[in-house]
Amino acid sequence: MKNQPSFHLLFILAISLILAACNERTTSSAREAKWGIIPKPQKLIASEGALHLSNNFTVEAPARFRTAEKELSSFLAGKTQLSQTNAAHANVKIYLLMDSMRSFKNEGYSLEVNQAEVKLTSNTEEGIHRALASLKQLTLLNETDGSYFLPCVKIEDWASFEHRGLLLDCSRHFFEVDVIKKYIDLLAFYKMNTLHWHLTEDQGWRIAIDKYPKLTEIGAYRTEADGSIYGGFYSKEDIKEIVAYATSKQIEVIPEIELPGHSQAAVAAYPHLSCTGQSVPVANDWGVFKEIYCAGNDSVFIFLEDVLTEVMELFPSDYIHIGGDEAPKVRWAECDKCQRRISEEGLAGAEELQSYFIRRIQTFLSENGKQIIGWDEILEGGLAKGALVQSWRGMEGGIEAVKHGNQAIMSPTSHAYFDYGLDAIDLKKVYSFNPIPAGLSKEEQKLIIGGECNMWTE
Ligand code: ACM
Ligand code: ZN
Repeated sequence: MKNQPSFHLLFILAISLILAACNERTTSSAREAKWGIIPKPQKLIASEGALHLSNNFTVEAPARFRTAEKELSSFLAGKTQLSQTNAAHANVKIYLLMDSMRSFKNEGYSLEVNQAEVKLTSNTEEGIHRALASLKQLTLLNETDGSYFLPCVKIEDWASFEHRGLLLDCSRHFFEVDVIKKYIDLLAFYKMNTLHWHLTEDQGWRIAIDKYPKLTEIGAYRTEADGSIYGGFYSKEDIKEIVAYATSKQIEVIPEIELPGHSQAAVAAYPHLSCTGQSVPVANDWGVFKEIYCAGNDSVFIFLEDVLTEVMELFPSDYIHIGGDEAPKVRWAECDKCQRRISEEGLAGAEELQSYFIRRIQTFLSENGKQIIGWDEILEGGLAKGALVQSWRGMEGGIEAVKHGNQAIMSPTSHAYFDYGLDAIDLKKVYSFNPIPAGLSKEEQKLIIGGECNMWTE
């Protein structure tokens, strides 16, 4: 008891000293430059000093970079104390420069900060937008109490991979247009260049198709286990708005229309599309469902070609993702029409029937100038020439694809499934992901065009 007051005193003294030391460190390091740009730039040369983004700034850009200029101006104007002015009164000058004499590979750019100016240089709009992402990150990283000190630096950067995608599943869970725009903002912020938009599923059809209104009248809504109705869909105007928004940030939107499986919502809307023709509900649980498109019924192909024609009108991308994953063949095995197709086409069985299905859709799309992407199941039963494989069940599917001379995107569950818990996939693991596996020749490596992460939303 006697010692207690002095123990308390010592304890408080020790805590005060620790806090004081921490404070000291925070104050003295408050202006230390922070370089954590993600992904890490290819070359970064730091130099002494910083540019204080204070009061008035001006942004100058050639007409070609007007969209990036507007975006930068509104980003900076959103920061406290900053306002745009004319060049004569500006404390800080920011230039977006076009330099067609320099060669910038793969969305490349340079970013230079000195004590008076910031220069973002590229010869493409993609490049200037990637430069903008670095500048935004550098600004936010170097904020202290509402003041922004950009450290002087010279960055030379370019993309290691042509395809840097992120999937968003809007079928299991419906996201409003504004949420998708925020998702696109984040893609741009981290220099991803592709939104893979998962629009059709067992649990919901989300894209308006004029010729088949029941797809959204019926297929976009499900009855949940508690009896409530859940759903929604994107009108053609919504889709145009999202594509335009992404395009303004140099992000490509690739739509996914799942076939032949994950199609129960379409079958719920138009039961004649399945092998049995029986009425089914839009699925309200997660899983793999056996009500898939009938491969023996020509009206299914007419339906899909009509749907894809309207899809192609909305999406300027050269690619259409046709799914191809997790298609149980239970109904096909029992279906006279499917069995007739197998024998008429001289197919070995259900796997080859899936290949026939994919090939037929691929032929239609390629006649319309589009290349297909499919999950790695499209390898089963024979891979169509020119099809791009998205490898999700490990990297093996991608390896097999490039060995056939096809292109691949690596998207393995081990590193790229954002719906998995943090115990399975954490930030460090995702960041460390290298889409090029060991043991491939230089030519095979080139066929791997990049990686993609998936935000499934069951
Ligand atoms: C998938 O996760 N079924 C592609
Ligand atoms: Zn059938």
